[in-house]
Amino acid sequence: MSQIVFFNGEFMPRENVQISFEDRGFQFGDGVYEVIKCENGQALALNRHLRRLKRSLDALEIQIPSELDFAHLTRRLIKANSLHDGLVYMQVTRGVAPRAHTFPENVKPTVIAYPMPWNNPTSVQFKQGATAIIVPDERWLRCDIKSLNLIANAVAKEKARRAGATEALLYREGLGVVEGSSSNLFAVIDGTLVTAPASPLILSGITREILLELASELSIPLRTEVVSRHELLHDAQEAFITSRGIAVLPLVAIDGKIVGDGTPGPITQQLANAYKSLIDEAENLEAI
Ligand code: PDD
Repeated sequence: MSQIVFFNGEFMPRENVQISFEDRGFQFGDGVYEVIKCENGQALALNRHLRRLKRSLDALEIQIPSELDFAHLTRRLIKANSLHDGLVYMQVTRGVAPRAHTFPENVKPTVIAYPMPWNNPTSVQFKQGATAIIVPDERWLRCDIKSLNLIANAVAKEKARRAGATEALLYREGLGVVEGSSSNLFAVIDGTLVTAPASPLILSGITREILLELASELSIPLRTEVVSRHELLHDAQEAFITSRGIAVLPLVAIDGKIVGDGTPGPITQQLANAYKSLIDEAENLEAI
């Protein structure tokens, strides 16, 4: 059966989708997106994703038709594709207009959403942990907007791949290591969980938000500060990255230097377990 895609107000087989080469998403990266995890046929933390989507749209002044109900379309899309576990990718661009940098008037946004297959990291991958390299953060200064402009993230991730690492951690001069190319970064230093504060210099992940709430419930000491490169390489007993797809993934080596004893540490495990229990026990996964 062909995959069903939501495109500009309609559900259709993916082969029927046609997008103009004058779409501003294509020419300017002028749009925003969300990646939503689906478990047991439900969109995990949908409410939080839709709030972030609204913030991104507002920040770029992209107006969507009032009748467009993202929650409803996500549920219908999951059902139409019998998606049990996987991801839903959702993208809104400013729309189609003759190429000009200024924002066109009376343009209709292009909205697309479709399911993507995804394999959760296995417990073996969790135990083995992942590796990362540190690279310069070459992104713009509004990383809090989940915009389509991902070239700096893609370049960084490709550097990681070529170095045989899973993630590229982004280092901003004078500040420190802010996050990963497609994940948020946490470290444990002297028993305290450290992660960058929400600011225009990071994409505040939904997984990050939930973990901060869990850390507070578990009374894990917390500092929201950008970790310096020196601290990360020399003082961190534990480090991990988070995103919707990977949930919590331990980092066991950074720039070739072993983190702690080279295995997932106790606070990482405690938070990963708490996150898993939250999902296993939630009555309404959309509302977590
Ligand atoms: N990326 N930071 C960046 C730069 C990201 O691109 C992402 C997610 C995150 C984690 O956010 P969340 O916990 O909401 O998934 C942090 C998505 C998955 C992507 O671009 O594919």
